[in-house]
Amino acid sequence: MQAVVLKGPRTIAVENVPDPVIAAPMDAIVRITSAAICGSDLHMYDGRTTAGAGLVLGHEPLGVVEEVGSEVTRIRRGDRVLMPFNIACGTCFNCKRGFTSACLAVNPDSAGAAYGYAGLGPYRGAQAEYLLVPFADQNCVAMPGTPHDEWEDDFVLLADVFPTGWYATDLAGVEEGTSVAVFGAGPVGLLAAYCAILRGAGEVYVVDCIADRLRKAEGIGARAIDFSAGDPIEQILDIRRREGLAALGGPQMLGVMCGIEAVGYQAIDWKNRARERPSIVIEALINLVNPTGRIAAVGLYVPHDPGGINPHAKKGAFQISFGRLWAKGLSLGTGQTPVAKYASMLRDLIVTGRAKPSFIVSRRTPLKSAPEAYAMFDRRAEGYVKVILKPAW
Ligand SMILES: NC(=O)c1ccc[n+]([C@@H]2O[C@H](COP(=O)([O-])OP(=O)(O)OC[C@H]3O[C@@H](n4cnc5c(N)ncnc54)[C@H](O)[C@@H]3O)[C@@H](O)[C@H]2O)c1
Ligand SMILES: [Zn+2]
Ligand SMILES: [Zn+2]
Repeated sequence: MQAVVLKGPRTIAVENVPDPVIAAPMDAIVRITSAAICGSDLHMYDGRTTAGAGLVLGHEPLGVVEEVGSEVTRIRRGDRVLMPFNIACGTCFNCKRGFTSACLAVNPDSAGAAYGYAGLGPYRGAQAEYLLVPFADQNCVAMPGTPHDEWEDDFVLLADVFPTGWYATDLAGVEEGTSVAVFGAGPVGLLAAYCAILRGAGEVYVVDCIADRLRKAEGIGARAIDFSAGDPIEQILDIRRREGLAALGGPQMLGVMCGIEAVGYQAIDWKNRARERPSIVIEALINLVNPTGRIAAVGLYVPHDPGGINPHAKKGAFQISFGRLWAKGLSLGTGQTPVAKYASMLRDLIVTGRAKPSFIVSRRTPLKSAPEAYAMFDRRAEGYVKVILKPAW
């Protein structure tokens, strides 16, 4: 079968790899109809993880069951299914507590596993014609409809970025009427803002510098903050000051209650876009979020970064104002999204017409054009907000 294979930094190829075969009785093989490219894939593409050459990439798949092992009972050949990016056993201590992102039975190296990801187990990725799904009853979520229908682009986002947007709003404590600042207007940031609005937030700011991404933020009713026009913290405080939004809380509460970091460790310096500043967003949120507020850091941070800007960054160590965070009584939530916890609830919001996350999808393209799609997405080029690869095209 054809698959997207990492060859080295900023080099991928679409190549023939062996077809998957059922190896365990709880395995299934799924024919992929859509596989999205994620900002998380770019960290590997950029050579900023421990991912080695030969890895089949991709962890955001939607497809149709082709074959099941003898002990799979809840899905069968022909079913339309979505695979959460986390691979989980469904029965270990952490899975039973809902933390499928930290499954204890699927990765010998750490808690948690995913398709096609550095450090997250030996699993092949989903940007391919077929995907081997372990513990298929746990790791396939049934979807209604038929391949390539009007939900195709919405459903594929249930594998990661729509649940990650929701998870961010959970960690950040978003509730009716709250104020939220989202840093990063990539797929994750845009959907975090969208989820905040679905959950009734009163004010939602989205910070980035990329025009088409900021336009999408405005399109859903968020306020776009362009950091190339000046310090984004000051811009948000100015708006709140001007509009009297902190009137009840007074000057100590001029910031926002909920902060969402949707950028990750390759964050760029606002003043000099050619330079990286890995802690710039967390630091901004420590300053911007009001006392007793919450910060959700769903952007990715890794313990080993071969391209880190200094010896500390190479080990995933960054300077942040922890004393200020503590003094303000802020909470900081992090980590991989436990997708299974949210996937069927968010699927139902899509099916009932309450949510249409596919507003972020800007391009659908054949699997064979993955090298160009990766290169353009990596540059955050206009028109490449979220790219979906189509193995059958
Ligand atoms: N926690 C999880 O389970 C999870 C799931 C999916 C993705 N992620 C991570 O989320 C992050 C975002 O991914 P994405 O798919 O949205 O794609 P992305 O990487 O394209 O989005 C990042 C956005 O941040 C912007 N940005 C860069 N520096 C900035 C700064 N200093 N201030 C504000 N904005 C800045 C970029 O212009 C870009 O639009 C990545 O790190 C990804 O690995 C985490
Ligand atoms: Zn992803
Ligand atoms: Zn488990």
